[in-house]
Amino acid sequence: MDRYAVFGHPISHSRSPWIHSHFAQQTGQPVRYTAVDVNPESFESAVLEFFAHGGRGLNITVPFKERASAMAEIRSTEVAISGAANTLYLNSRGALCAENTDGHGLLTDLQENHGAVLGNARILLLGAGGAVRGVLPALLAQSPCQICILNRSPDKARLLAEQFNGEIEVKAINPESRQSSGFDFIINGTSAGLGGEVPRVPEGALTKDTWCYDMMYGRGETAFQKWARLAGARKSLDGAGMLVEQAARAFAIWRGSKPQTEAVIALLRKELSAP
Ligand code: ATR
Repeated sequence: MDRYAVFGHPISHSRSPWIHSHFAQQTGQPVRYTAVDVNPESFESAVLEFFAHGGRGLNITVPFKERASAMAEIRSTEVAISGAANTLYLNSRGALCAENTDGHGLLTDLQENHGAVLGNARILLLGAGGAVRGVLPALLAQSPCQICILNRSPDKARLLAEQFNGEIEVKAINPESRQSSGFDFIINGTSAGLGGEVPRVPEGALTKDTWCYDMMYGRGETAFQKWARLAGARKSLDGAGMLVEQAARAFAIWRGSKPQTEAVIALLRKELSAP
């Protein structure tokens, strides 16, 4: 069996072992995937040890994505730009390589699974932490017309906007800045949902044509999804599809073959809706 794992702290909530065991079954690959709660004091040495003992690939989750990027020898464009990595492996020379598949996961779910068109769209991103930073390069690559960033701590949104502003306008906004026209997409990348909260959104930002997407998922509707549905959004989606798609991308990087995701997303939804 080839060994893989997800490193995080805490980690007990992780669905990654479940998802990857479905991918392994489906593709007939000899993959064993476990979840490891890593002591924050020894993250780097735990990674090196895992690979020194023959481990083939790692997923990295909260709070280690920035440290995974920092310790890698070779970074994908997304990792270099975002400074956050969620997938590690060794190349044929034994160099530690870092990728970030979150952006790919979000785009695949939005575009392929739900038929969204991001080209020329106005996008509002809620949050300015690792989750938002990780998906920004992939969103920009779709040539939206504009990306606005709104964060509870406005300075973080401003810094992030300054870093990414370029050919495509990226700017920070605050909850008081009334919008004269609605956004095509509002994507929630905050962790507010963990406490059942919904981040404040400016008046006029959501219309009946707006797609709302929560990068989080949970049992039943997330708080943000419920808010979006009640506010009359055109779509109100959770991040279960993104989770499976980012995992599929990591699996493809490690194993060279892309698993089918549709059935796994359907199974995950069934699990999440079970009493
Ligand atoms: P992650 O890696 O999951 O993005 P993070 O880097 O800690 O985690 O970022 C969490 C994000 O959620 C931040 O943008 C945070 O806002 P602050 O920068 O002001 O801390 C946001 N967030 C967390 N709880 C929130 C809440 N109750 N309301 C609004 N935003 C919240």
